[in-house]
Amino acid sequence: TGHFTYDPGFTSTASCESKITYIDGDEGVLLYRGYSIDELADKSDFPEVCYLLLNGELPTGAQKEKFLRSITYHTMVHEQLSMFFRGFRRDAHPMAVICGVVGALSAFYHDSTDINDPHQRLVASHRLIAKMPTIIAMAYKYSIGQPFMYPRNDLDYCENFLYMTFGVPCEPYKVSPILANALDKIFILHADHEQNASTSTVRLAGSSGANPFACIAAGIACLWGPAHGGANEAALNMLQQIGTPDRIPEYIAKAKDKNDPFRLMGFGHRVYKNYDPRAKVMQQTAREVLDELGVHNDPLFQVAMELEKIALSDPYFVEKKLYPNVDFYSGIILKAMGFPTTMFTPLFALARTVGWIAQWSEMIADPSQKIGRPRQLYTGATRRNYTPVGERG
Ligand code: CMC
Repeated sequence: TGHFTYDPGFTSTASCESKITYIDGDEGVLLYRGYSIDELADKSDFPEVCYLLLNGELPTGAQKEKFLRSITYHTMVHEQLSMFFRGFRRDAHPMAVICGVVGALSAFYHDSTDINDPHQRLVASHRLIAKMPTIIAMAYKYSIGQPFMYPRNDLDYCENFLYMTFGVPCEPYKVSPILANALDKIFILHADHEQNASTSTVRLAGSSGANPFACIAAGIACLWGPAHGGANEAALNMLQQIGTPDRIPEYIAKAKDKNDPFRLMGFGHRVYKNYDPRAKVMQQTAREVLDELGVHNDPLFQVAMELEKIALSDPYFVEKKLYPNVDFYSGIILKAMGFPTTMFTPLFALARTVGWIAQWSEMIADPSQKIGRPRQLYTGATRRNYTPVGERG
């Protein structure tokens, strides 16, 4: 292979050095800046995790307060941006809308496009973390024909997002602390995952010096695919299709059939060859949310747990080390909270924005950073002569 290695899908190529997230796929371990995901999901909150990912350390009380002030300061979007939504069809997938709107942020916040100024990089990070909930709630409101709700800075990050999504101007909206807390956990679990496809996309886009909003839009576009962030939507659709536990064997057989492209959505992972530590927390959270909402014996949850049990005792899944991943249970929680399936991947994008921007900032600040430029193995035609159109056979 000449002087470079052929590594399709980058299964054995490290593209960067990073101090942000550590995964041990064989042991099922995930650490943000050295802290385990289980402990953060249990004891921390999403804004604190954002601070940790961006800055490397947990904030002191004063630092946390200052950070929250900055985030709430930036929650509104430019009024003009609301016009941007109106150019889309109302039945557009919210991911299509969000990708376009986030890409357009660079047209509104010119100051934050100066990537050589560390202060502006920080402002861009805060703007993105603050504005994503607003933009995503607006995409939802637009899709159902309801008015946009302005952010409320007296609410915390997740409460405000639930308010902007489910509140209406004519009625007071009571945010359930249990649901806000569950959402906060989902966001913590999705906040970063080292060099996955969308994060690598953000880094590659950023390596050319592109502005941070354009880079995050690139990440959103990549996340949309069903093998990546789109899996949460696909997993729930699959559970709904299966419907009842008696139909599980039929789907397991399809997943095992070499001639059938069907895969169990929410199963398997490039890096985890053990139980995804995020799926464990997610299963527990699903239980809590369903209890809080008084949904007992939710058929989808029953199908999911039974499917997990059957798959994990089947030699095909055992030998290939296929376990439930983060997206296997997240859809059940989001559906129970009232989110339509098309909003699942936008919620993933909301949470992952901090990871993307932390990775982007780390890259820009790294003096060894170069433009990303993979090589290829050319397998096309060798040199040949041009034939005029009339002489082609
Ligand atoms: N159902 C059935 N078989 C599977 C599955 C599955 N979900 N996942 C992998 N396999 C098989 C696959 O057919 C292959 O078999 P063989 O070696 O006989 O050809 C083997 O397992 C290895 O699969 P691979 O595609 O080479 O593995 P990969 O590391 O390239 O793919 C994956 C990882 C996540 C794309 C894949 O497991 C998958 O498509 N899963 C379903 C989609 C999904 O849940 N994605 C969410 C990932 S977690 C959240 C995120 O990162 O966004």
